[in-house]
Amino acid sequence: MKIEEYLSAMKKRCSRRKYTNRPIDSKYVQQLEDSIALYNKESGLNIKLVIGSGAELFSGFRKSYGLFVGVQNYIAMIGSKTLPNRMEKVGRFGEKIILEATAMGLSTCWVGTSYDKNAAKELCEGNEELDCVIAVGYSDEKHSLKERMMEYGTHRQNKSKEALIEAEEHVPEWFKQGMDAVYLAPTARNLRPFVFEYKDGQVTASTTVPTETAMIDLGIAKLHFELGARVGSWDYGNGSHYYFDDKWKDGDI
Ligand SMILES: Cc1cc2nc3c(=O)[nH]c(=O)nc-3n(C[C@H](O)[C@H](O)[C@H](O)COP(=O)(O)O)c2cc1C
Repeated sequence: MKIEEYLSAMKKRCSRRKYTNRPIDSKYVQQLEDSIALYNKESGLNIKLVIGSGAELFSGFRKSYGLFVGVQNYIAMIGSKTLPNRMEKVGRFGEKIILEATAMGLSTCWVGTSYDKNAAKELCEGNEELDCVIAVGYSDEKHSLKERMMEYGTHRQNKSKEALIEAEEHVPEWFKQGMDAVYLAPTARNLRPFVFEYKDGQVTASTTVPTETAMIDLGIAKLHFELGARVGSWDYGNGSHYYFDDKWKDGDI
């Protein structure tokens, strides 16, 4: 997908927690499968798209956080326990898939806790771990009352963009654009548990709160930065560096 399409999907995306029973168009199922196959190869993860049995994970299951209705399909973010940087990869590649799904007109939501993890565990083989799922499907344009309540609850948490930046010197335009994109990144409970530091012309990104999903959040945020700044790539790891490269020349990523 073109960089412009990722950026416009980023602006459009928001978490949706109520889904209709319309099945995902088969051409989009195929496109999602193709992306997943590609990203599994690139990352070493074992991401799986599950069509039609979302109810097993979400119905009748109650938790204080998350009020999901009508989930039919989901993406299981699975990887081997020994895979280096697994959680960060889950964030990066899951968010890439989410932005592509958004461009297809699909609704999504990252789900770290409010689902029946045991019901999904059978998708794991041997030494694998399921870190998160992503609900995916169609939603009504209008947000339901329950959805608006959830949005009110989480969006009240209002960490400013400035609070995510550490810089003692003037920052270049590409860094600002990167941070604008970071600000659009979803995070668990909207906590934004990270900081991006600009120092001596170098950028690093680190977590600030040791939550269970902080490395997934960081992976998502680093992808957003990369798409917004468009001058380089990241090393994996907490506190790792951003380095310049010219992969951005042709507009495809
Ligand atoms: C790693 C991760 C885990 C999440 N887990 C849940 C969850 O268990 N239940 C839920 O309702 N929302 C969950 N969310 C969605 C966030 O609450 C949501 O992204 C955040 O409030 C920002 O809102 P937005 O996505 O509409 O921009 C999760 C998000 C992320 C990134």
